Amino acid sequence: MADPISVAGYDDRAQRQIPGYASLARLAVALLASSPTAASPGAELLVVGCGTGAELSEARAQRADWRLWAVDTSTAMISAARQRLGADAEAVQWWEGPAEELEGEARFAGAIAVLVLQELPDDGSKLRLLTALARLLAPGAPLVLVDLMGNAPSVGSSLEHQFQAAQAQFQRASGLDADAPQALVYPIGEARRSALLEAAGFSDPVRIFQALGYEGVLVQRRN
Ligand SMILES: C[S@@+](CC[C@H](N)C(=O)[O-])C[C@H]1O[C@@H](n2cnc3c(N)ncnc32)[C@H](O)[C@@H]1O
Repeated sequence: MADPISVAGYDDRAQRQIPGYASLARLAVALLASSPTAASPGAELLVVGCGTGAELSEARAQRADWRLWAVDTSTAMISAARQRLGADAEAVQWWEGPAEELEGEARFAGAIAVLVLQELPDDGSKLRLLTALARLLAPGAPLVLVDLMGNAPSVGSSLEHQFQAAQAQFQRASGLDADAPQALVYPIGEARRSALLEAAGFSDPVRIFQALGYEGVLVQRRN
């Protein structure tokens, strides 16, 4: 499958681009680990869009007893994640392909999808992914979602220019070329995300992270 995101230097680039990215995997795993549905030893957890393996490595560190499923459409990302995990890679079930095609119902005790939904256009693709995750998760199970949102101050707001300039300034100050071409993403606003989550079968989102235009929420599979 085509690799829309360059794997080489991915982690370094993400850290320079997203304030707080270095703690995101730890935060996402801590949120799942605190859920009653994921408390039992050997619970099955799903990492969607595992990328280079930051969340998998963190999950192994926090809960070595979990049975982890790592899903990604990119061969190169899966390979980078396997390399990062080293011997721990053997303890993970790997699935190369879209999470939407993963079979089963109510089998997972929790899921993480960090910077994944933003890669899908809002033409039914975002809803298809969320609906698949709702099908795969047990009732009450948590999902941690983090994405670039369309939450910048509206056009004409006195803060609009400052907000855009701060994004570019953060990247420049982190040593990134803020004018370099970036991966194509499809941000949606909070209202649309809530509507899609509701339609897919998730409860109201609780915000757990925000930095400039990036936002993370914790939601639960409705009972
Ligand atoms: C921006 S990366 C994020 C990687 C990692 N979660 C992180 O936080 O750095 C998004 C990943 O999601 C994968 N992806 C996109 N759509 C997917 C889908 N429908 N199912 C599974 N993986 C998907 C991409 O191949 C890519 O590796």
